[in-house]
Amino acid sequence: MKRIAVLTSGGDAPGMNAAIRAVTRTAISMGAEVFGVQLGYQGLIDGIIIPLGARDVAGIIQRGGTMLGSARCDEFKTAQGQREAIRNLHQHGIEGIVVIGGNGSQTGANALAKQGFPVVGVASTIDNDLYGSDITIGVDTALNIVLEAIDRLKVTASSHQRAFMIEVMGRNCGYLALMAGIAGGAETIVIPEYEVEPEYVAKDIARAYEKGKQHAIIIVAEGAKNNTQVLETYFAEHKEELGFSIRTTILGHVQRGGTPSASDRILASRLGSEAAKALLGGNHGVLIGMIKNELVSTPLEVVVEEKKELDRSWFEMAEMLDR
Ligand code: ADP
Ligand code: F6P
Repeated sequence: MKRIAVLTSGGDAPGMNAAIRAVTRTAISMGAEVFGVQLGYQGLIDGIIIPLGARDVAGIIQRGGTMLGSARCDEFKTAQGQREAIRNLHQHGIEGIVVIGGNGSQTGANALAKQGFPVVGVASTIDNDLYGSDITIGVDTALNIVLEAIDRLKVTASSHQRAFMIEVMGRNCGYLALMAGIAGGAETIVIPEYEVEPEYVAKDIARAYEKGKQHAIIIVAEGAKNNTQVLETYFAEHKEELGFSIRTTILGHVQRGGTPSASDRILASRLGSEAAKALLGGNHGVLIGMIKNELVSTPLEVVVEEKKELDRSWFEMAEMLDR
């Protein structure tokens, strides 16, 4: 295999650039030519494919986002869209592709693999919901952004003896919220995996007040059944039982826009480099992830079928630390 491509897809994640750089430079070191597909699968369908040399990926390791651009592309979910994408790859003489992205993107990668096109995935999403990797590119940076916000909100919360609900991203996965809750010293954590009812959250806030705390922090995953909207409605109806007055902050996309942390740059470099080696070495149809600090390749069909579990002991520990 002499000509490969790389694309980034789905929600951008800090560290994607470091992964593009690692794929490109590793493949060039191994004697291959590299091409970048802009705007994820949309660019594959539209044929927006550019050559990538070692100098083209210079100065990007420290930049968040993705120099190739990303997209959500419904057309790629169709057989027609996938045919068009494969036709464009063949037309450019491209023999294999690295897909850097999350769950949806790897489902797309699996679709290409099932049609016989050599593809290797790189685990990249701030949600950390991808089977086949303990940790994904972007999580560490996003977590640090959430923590900075929690620390700042605690300052004003203490001054005014208030409770704050902070909504954290993660789609249907509570990983980011749970880790933010542990590292940020939250009173209560609400995540989809281990749902708690509004009455329980209200009791937790009241208890914090009775214990003499000056503030209460509630971290709520966006995917929780009892999300910030549900909780706000409940708290409005039970104001007098709370003890604290309450404010809500939805962190939103600010969580995705950070300068990649050292840890994300290293993870992305390792995964990207290994992906290029795997593809050029003939190990394709797999996702490259990190399990117990080892680089591991897992078949894409397993990645898309299996669900990554969130260890309940983390949640129980968080509850014990709130005293
Ligand atoms: P992420 O990769 O961050 O989870 P998405 O779920 O939005 O983000 O997926 C990114 C893209 O992957 C989608 O816009 C689509 O182009 C492609 N994709 C998602 N699901 C499928 C699928 N079932 N079949 C083919 N392509 C898919
Ligand atoms: O998958 C990453 C993510 O940031 C999720 O946490 C969030 O639910 C979603 O993307 C937001 O999507 P968009 O950027 O399309 O609004």
